[in-house]
Amino acid sequence: MERMEDEKPKKKVTLYLIYCVSTAVIGSLQFGYNTGVINAPEEKLRSFFYNVSLERNPGEPFSSDAVTMVWSVAVAIFSVGGMIGSFSVGAIVNKFGRRKSMLLVNILAVIGGGLMGVSILARSFETVIIGRLFIGVFCGLCTGLTPMYVGEIAPTALRGAFGTLHQLGVVVGILVAQVFGLEFLLGSHTLWPLLLALTILPAILQSIMLPFCPESPRYQLIVLNQEEEARKVLVRLRGTEDVSDDIEEMKEEGMKMAMEKKVTILELFRSPKYRQPIIIAIVLQLSQQLSGINAVFYYSTGIFKTAGVTQPIYATIGAGAVNTVFTVVSLFLVERAGRRTLHLIGLAGMAICALLMTISLALQSTNQSLSYLAIVAVFGFVASFEMGPGPIPWFIVAELFSQGPRPAAIAVSGFSNWSANFLVGLCFPKLQELTHPYTFIIFMVFLILFFIFTFLRVPETKGRTFDDITQGFAASADKSSHSPVPEAGVVPESKEGPPVS
Ligand code: GLC
Repeated sequence: MERMEDEKPKKKVTLYLIYCVSTAVIGSLQFGYNTGVINAPEEKLRSFFYNVSLERNPGEPFSSDAVTMVWSVAVAIFSVGGMIGSFSVGAIVNKFGRRKSMLLVNILAVIGGGLMGVSILARSFETVIIGRLFIGVFCGLCTGLTPMYVGEIAPTALRGAFGTLHQLGVVVGILVAQVFGLEFLLGSHTLWPLLLALTILPAILQSIMLPFCPESPRYQLIVLNQEEEARKVLVRLRGTEDVSDDIEEMKEEGMKMAMEKKVTILELFRSPKYRQPIIIAIVLQLSQQLSGINAVFYYSTGIFKTAGVTQPIYATIGAGAVNTVFTVVSLFLVERAGRRTLHLIGLAGMAICALLMTISLALQSTNQSLSYLAIVAVFGFVASFEMGPGPIPWFIVAELFSQGPRPAAIAVSGFSNWSANFLVGLCFPKLQELTHPYTFIIFMVFLILFFIFTFLRVPETKGRTFDDITQGFAASADKSSHSPVPEAGVVPESKEGPPVS
């Protein structure tokens, strides 16, 4: 549905809307916390694994290789859980709805946190590993559920800013984990189980807050066909009796969806109507992870150490702080500059910083002061990431699809994100061994390729209704099905003027 100039989308934000969004982004906080929490207590966990093996088998405790292996499993199994969780999002929301799904998944956080929390008492490293798996599944679900719910309740004009709140939750979670993980706080030999179990508290808090949040009105109207309920919810969320614009827009989307009903994952790839947006969604998620951001977040302390920084742990926390500040910057820019522009700026900035990082690492032995360049480059890398590649891929998927295919699309793209995350986490140490100090050149090449893709293929979605966006894709699918060779750079029509060839 095209909007006329004089019916600009409404921007009113009510307290109730803020309450609902805050409740949902507790899930994002959980994802960030559990991403960041495992790094600081590494040495303590390693020595615990060794001690347990010694108690169980005094004659033959773990070798250092065996300890490394248990440690790597404990780290990596989180992403494996994430892949499982993200992939299950579609099935869960279709069965339970948005709100109940968010409520239910908290059980996983309580089980996972509980298992990790009793590790020392139970003298068991298995509880750490199984606990991390549960937490991974939980976080995988959160990365789908939160952006979906937030995208569906946010007013069109503020969908990007609200969507960025998911990433803000993530980065605050990482920062909190980095700070709590300091040795004199919870990162000590005796307190690390508490550090890992702390994830239970936000889960309880969210479970108390969720019953006061509504089901997504978009889901109520389009999927459940409950127009009256949806209207009541919208009146509360928007703070006005006149919600006819929202209802109209949803109805229009619903009518089109009635013809397609539930879309399976396979259909996403088969139907020409969805092929283009699903490719964009997947590539944007890959651009987020293959940018190398988690090479920094998982291994920054080591990177700073090799660059000659004397207090690497504080430089790591500095990176967490820069990360948070720039997510806030993006929050204010995303409805002005648009998604596409910010993503392009972010990717370009990261590529430049990756080059600077490489220069500082390569020449470090010749010039001590280059360690400052390394810090500046890492901070710039993180700041650029949060301008676009951090927040945008998470929420843009909900924007690129209508109600029918949305759950399946979020599942597929979330799964791509987690798989790439797993791959980078797993391969970076080896890659670094093989290519040091030129490892970030690999990410730079990826960044350039993703820049080109974004420039040619990604449409602007700022200020457009879901229906308008999906219509754009349908129109361009029609067009290309009529021309024997798809035209290069064909993107859906938008008022922001992406390149249309
Ligand atoms: C994004 C990524 C996540 C990363 C974080 C860093 O949310 O999905 O993997 O750790 O940003 O801020």
